[in-house]
Amino acid sequence: MNIPSLAGVCSYDQAAQIGIDVDETVQRLVRYAWINKRLMDYGLYWINPTPEWEVKEALSLHTYLATEHAAPMRKRVSEMRNPPPRMDVPPDDRLERFLNEILAAETTLEKLVAVYGVLRPALLAEYQKHYDAANPLVDYPTRRLLRSMIVEEDETVAWGAAAIDALGGMSQVEAWRSHLQAYLDAAGGISGLVAVSDDVPPSRHVQPFTPDFYPRRDARFVQQGNFVFPPHAVARMEGVSDEEKTLALMCKRTLEMDVPEVMARMIAESEKQPWEYYVDMTRQLWDEARHAMMGSVYLQHRGIDWKREIPLHPGFSLRLNQHMSALEAHAVLYTIEQSLMPADTGKKYEWVTAGAAGDPLAKLFQDYDWADEVLHVHIGREWGLALSGMSRAEFVDMGQRKASESEGVLEAYADPAKQFNWWPGFVQHVLGKATTAQDREFDTSDPVYRKAGS
Ligand SMILES: [Fe+2]
Ligand SMILES: [Fe+2]
Repeated sequence: MNIPSLAGVCSYDQAAQIGIDVDETVQRLVRYAWINKRLMDYGLYWINPTPEWEVKEALSLHTYLATEHAAPMRKRVSEMRNPPPRMDVPPDDRLERFLNEILAAETTLEKLVAVYGVLRPALLAEYQKHYDAANPLVDYPTRRLLRSMIVEEDETVAWGAAAIDALGGMSQVEAWRSHLQAYLDAAGGISGLVAVSDDVPPSRHVQPFTPDFYPRRDARFVQQGNFVFPPHAVARMEGVSDEEKTLALMCKRTLEMDVPEVMARMIAESEKQPWEYYVDMTRQLWDEARHAMMGSVYLQHRGIDWKREIPLHPGFSLRLNQHMSALEAHAVLYTIEQSLMPADTGKKYEWVTAGAAGDPLAKLFQDYDWADEVLHVHIGREWGLALSGMSRAEFVDMGQRKASESEGVLEAYADPAKQFNWWPGFVQHVLGKATTAQDREFDTSDPVYRKAGS
C-alpha cells in the first residue's frame, strides 16, 4: 500500500524525532503571546504621534495582526496546561525591560528600527526555529499556528525593512540598534533560552513613559490645518449629482485615518479587558485604516494629488483624544456607527449613490465599507455599550452630547487664515464642471451623529 501514512503530516522517521516537550512549548508560547501584546501596545501608542501616513497604515495592520497572533497562542497554552499560566503579566522581568526600552524610541526611524529592525526579525527567526524543531506529529497544533504566523510575520518584517531603508537606513541609528540588541541578549533572546549576559547600557528612559495621543500628519498634507470639510454635507445634500456625491464619499473615506487614531487611544486606555476585546477592537481599527486607504486608492486612481488637494485634517481625533475620556470617545463612535445603519441615509445609501453614479470602483469600496460597518455596530454593542454599564439611550445621549460639545474646541487649533472652502475648486478640477453644491455654508465636522437615535 502506497497511501501516505500519518495523514501526510510527516514520515515515520520525522515523527520519531524528539523535538520540544510540553513545558518548553508552553514557556515559548507564553513569551511570544506577551511579545505580541507589547507589539499591540507600540502600535496603539505610535499611530497618533507618528506623522508619516504610510507608517500609520502599516501600524494599523500590524497592531491587528499582533492581537490575532496572540489569540491562538493563548488558546494553545490553555490546551496544554490546566490551569494555564497567567498571560496578562510579563513572563520575565528581563524580557519586559527590553520591551520597555523600545518605548524610548524618539523618531520614526528609531521606532521602526526597534520594532522592525530588532524585535520582529528576532521573533520571526524564533518562530522558524521552533517550527523546525517541534515534532511534526505530536505538536501538530503548535506547528500549524506557527506556520501561518511565519507567513504574516515575514511580510511584516519585509515592510519594515523597506520602510527603514526609505527613512535613511538602519546605520543612521546604529547606536540605538545595538543598545536594544544588548537588552534583548540580556533577556536570553526571544525564547529566554539563550545564555544570558547581564551587560546592558544604562536605560534611555529619562522619565517614565507616557503615551502621546496628539494626532499628527506629515508635511505633505499641506492643508492639514484647514478644518472646512464640505464632503460631509455634500454626500447627503439634495440636488447634488450622484457623481459629485460619490467624489465626496471617497474624500470622506480618505479622511477616516482619524478613526484609527481615536481607537488607538481608546484601546490603549482600556486595561485588563478580555483578549477578545483587543482582537475585535484592533480589527475595527484596521478596518478604519483600510477605509482611508480605499479613499486614497480611488483618488490616486483618478490621478488626484490627494495629500495636497484635500484637507486631511485630524480634527476628529483632536476632539476625541484631547477633549474626552476614552468612554466618552467610545460613545461618540458608537453613536456615529448607529447612525450609519438606516438604509435611506446610511451605508446602504452610500453604496446606492456610487452605483447610481455608474462608478464600479467607488461602488465596490462602499460595498465593503458597508459590510465592515455592520461588524462595527456589533463590536460597538459588545465592547462599548455593554462595558459602559449604561442603557443604549444613555450611551447614545452621551455620544451625541460629547460630539456636539466638542465641535467648538477646534477653534483653538484652527488658524483662521487657513480655513477656506476648497470644494468648488476641487470639483471643477476633478469633474471638469462647477459644483452643484455652490453657495452653501459648510460645517467643519460630520453632522451625521445629530440624527442618531432619532
Ligand atoms: Fe469606516
Ligand atoms: Fe466603522
